[in-house]
Amino acid sequence: MRHWPITDLELSTPDLVLRLPSDAELDALAQVAAEGVVPDGAVYFPQPWASAPPAERARNVVQNHWWARGDWARENWRLLLAVFRDGQVIGQQNLSARDFATTGEARTGFWLGRRFQGQSYGTQMRAAALALAFDGLDAAQVTSTAFADNTASRAVSRKFGYRPNGVHRIAVDGRPYDAHEEVVDSVSWRDHAQLLPVGMSGLTGCITYFR
Ligand SMILES: CC(C)(COP(=O)(O)OP(=O)(O)OC[C@H]1O[C@@H](n2cnc3c(N)ncnc32)[C@H](O)[C@@H]1OP(=O)(O)O)[C@@H](O)C(=O)NCCC(=O)NCCS
Repeated sequence: MRHWPITDLELSTPDLVLRLPSDAELDALAQVAAEGVVPDGAVYFPQPWASAPPAERARNVVQNHWWARGDWARENWRLLLAVFRDGQVIGQQNLSARDFATTGEARTGFWLGRRFQGQSYGTQMRAAALALAFDGLDAAQVTSTAFADNTASRAVSRKFGYRPNGVHRIAVDGRPYDAHEEVVDSVSWRDHAQLLPVGMSGLTGCITYFR
């Protein structure tokens, strides 16, 4: 899209392609969310969108994508990429930052439909986000926050050499959760970048949207 060149940005890993979804693909992504993201009763996000009833969960996904695009500013952006395997949408990878040009810090978040979890896709998604942040955008550090019992998310961070960066106690739906922040810097990324090859195209045309 000429006037929103982030649509040309595409990341690829051995099994996956990550890019902005069309509205039809966003609808498919929302359906994946409706079919389930977290086990019943589990709370893995500060905003409990994933444990909302299916229709609300799906609508949240759609609105969140539109909001992220509508609200985009170089000082405060949220890139929400749809994740495709063999052309089928299976989940979402986020990379976001405030004042990135000054701080060099970005954050990641990710989710997969339940039936796509535990097959190394999350690891590939994080590798793609880190490659974009460090190799594409020259980030200094990237953080990730996961609740204490989110074994899979924290295991992904461990693989890429993140170090603990503090625990915040936060309330979700009136209950306390320990949110573990972890951080990886560019030096540590270089030591782990060879874990997975990541392809990247279309960044040159939109890099000024990020920094
Ligand atoms: C978090 C998430 C994106 C990870 O993606 P994934 O594809 O399931 O993870 P992977 O298959 O790449 O596995 C990563 C590591 O976690 C481990 N792991 C995965 N699921 C696990 C589980 N349920 N229990 C324990 N370990 C688990 C894997 O063994 C792997 O480590 P290893 O390679 O050393 O064996 C995915 O599980 C998910 O969408 N979860 C629900 C939403 C969520 O929690 N999002 C993150 C919020 S912070």
